[in-house]
Amino acid sequence: MQNLEDIVGRALREFEAAPDPASLENAKARYLGKAGELTALLKGLGALAPEERKLAGASINVAKAGLENALEACRSGLADAKMNLRLAEEALDVTLPGRGRTPGGIHPVTRTWQRIEEIFRSIGFDVADGPEIETDWYNFTALNNPENHPARSMQDTFYVDAKDSSGLPLLLRTHTSPMQVRYARTHKPPIKVIAPGRTYRVDSDATHSPMFHQVEGLWIDEHISFADLKGVYTDFLHRFFETEDLLVRFRPSYFPFTEPSAEIDMQFADGPFKGRWLEISGSGQVHPSVVRNFGLDPERYIGFAFGSGLERLTMLRYGIDDLRLFFDGDLRFLKQF
Ligand code: FA5
Ligand code: MG
Repeated sequence: MQNLEDIVGRALREFEAAPDPASLENAKARYLGKAGELTALLKGLGALAPEERKLAGASINVAKAGLENALEACRSGLADAKMNLRLAEEALDVTLPGRGRTPGGIHPVTRTWQRIEEIFRSIGFDVADGPEIETDWYNFTALNNPENHPARSMQDTFYVDAKDSSGLPLLLRTHTSPMQVRYARTHKPPIKVIAPGRTYRVDSDATHSPMFHQVEGLWIDEHISFADLKGVYTDFLHRFFETEDLLVRFRPSYFPFTEPSAEIDMQFADGPFKGRWLEISGSGQVHPSVVRNFGLDPERYIGFAFGSGLERLTMLRYGIDDLRLFFDGDLRFLKQF
């Protein structure tokens, strides 16, 4: 069987020389495939005499088994080589020192938000959250702003391309005051809540931004008065600014949803804006019509509400004169907090 030895020899050399799996499989096809050389020998056995066929068949099968073993060994050799190459390429130097994390910071307005929640929680206020896309009814009508009332123009806003169940366009809330109504209609008195969140108006200058933050406060019970508003709010300011040496004034004002109403102003205590007054909040005794919209009897329930600007409180706390700095994302500004 000169021919058989020759075939086996060539096959082994080609298997071993195959540089990659594809060439190895091609070499396999040339010898062990359907039209392969060894397969042709097996097919030729039929032409031999029975005695000869037995001997030749046995040796061809031994050769075939040997080639199959060699083929398997070459296959796993190539796979190992590939894996080793990948390991070498993706090697990690575990001895390198770590890069560490750049410590982030909490945005100054978020700090204010957190401080306010902490202070009001400590005196028994609940903290509520509500939708920024609001219906006309919650934002205006329920707050005693009848349709077409000129007071609505104090708060020009952005409208959304969708309508509520009464056919009025949805809008971005202009203040957190709709949360008074949402909360009061789903809770029983005594009602004591703050609702911080984002608000929107068509406004833009150094003290007005089209998106800003307010915190609403509401305390309704059987005998909560304007004096309680002054007490609670002044105490809040003392704790927020960590000093009692503050210049605060309640300036008579008008809101359709409170009567009487006041704007709360504060003076910059020192720094470059020393002596300048800045309005931080609207406030007042909740109007009886609004108490009725809460689903409560205004003969029995009374209380106060306020709506304060978080950017304004933050400006006063850190002596910042332009609220647009809060939204520019300039790291030189943000890193100071
Ligand atoms: C209101 O929005 C009333 N809802 C407040 C209120 C609540 C009154 C409850 C009575 C009872 P006003 O429009 O004044 O009021 O806004 C309240 C505060 O939000 C302002 O004092 C100011 O601090 C802040 N603010 C208003 N507009 C902007 C703005 N465009 N950018 C930044 N802060 C603003
Ligand atoms: Mg105002």
